[in-house]
Amino acid sequence: MTNIYLIGFMGTGKTAAGRELARAKKWQFMDLDDLIQLREKRSIAQIFAEEGEPYFRRVEKRALQEIAREKNFVVATGGGIVMDKENIRVMKETGTIICLSAQPEVILKRTCGQRHRPLLNVSDPKKQIEVLLKLRAPYYAQADKTIDTSRLSVEEVVRKLLGAAPSGARHQVARRKSKVKSKKSKVQGKRKN
Ligand code: S3P
Repeated sequence: MTNIYLIGFMGTGKTAAGRELARAKKWQFMDLDDLIQLREKRSIAQIFAEEGEPYFRRVEKRALQEIAREKNFVVATGGGIVMDKENIRVMKETGTIICLSAQPEVILKRTCGQRHRPLLNVSDPKKQIEVLLKLRAPYYAQADKTIDTSRLSVEEVVRKLLGAAPSGARHQVARRKSKVKSKKSKVQGKRKN
């Protein structure tokens, strides 16, 4: 299975770029937050307010597992999906992970005035962005490639994404090789014991 997963902080342009990337590749596009809202029949803000963040994370994980069964999808994920290592494993096994990043002040500018992100509905969103970015940096670093969108238009991001995402065939070969490698290391591990 081959999907492209766009990870990265809120306001880095995953949805806008993902939609255009899918169009360019003639693949399907899914924004994971939209899938969650569809399944839950309520908004992300309502889910956070009525059930709390841990519930949202469980639903988010289920939505990812649902889309991971598909292929040739560009998936724009929510900014916090990377905090669960099982989610990273699922994305790595079923596609390529590309992280979109942006400078904190750019994120603030892009997200201010929007009310649909509960985690940024706080008295000091600038501080919140800095704290969360720091906390999440090592998780975003697990992407196959990172593109800084701070100064790029959507078209420029898409052009870079088209260069970054491996073709299906190349990706399959890479995955077969890594399976062989992990089988070998298991065998070697057994021999040592
Ligand atoms: C979140 C990001 C949001 C959404 C939810 C939580 C996060 O998605 O999933 O509000 O934890 O960063 P976007 O990154 O698409 O805004």
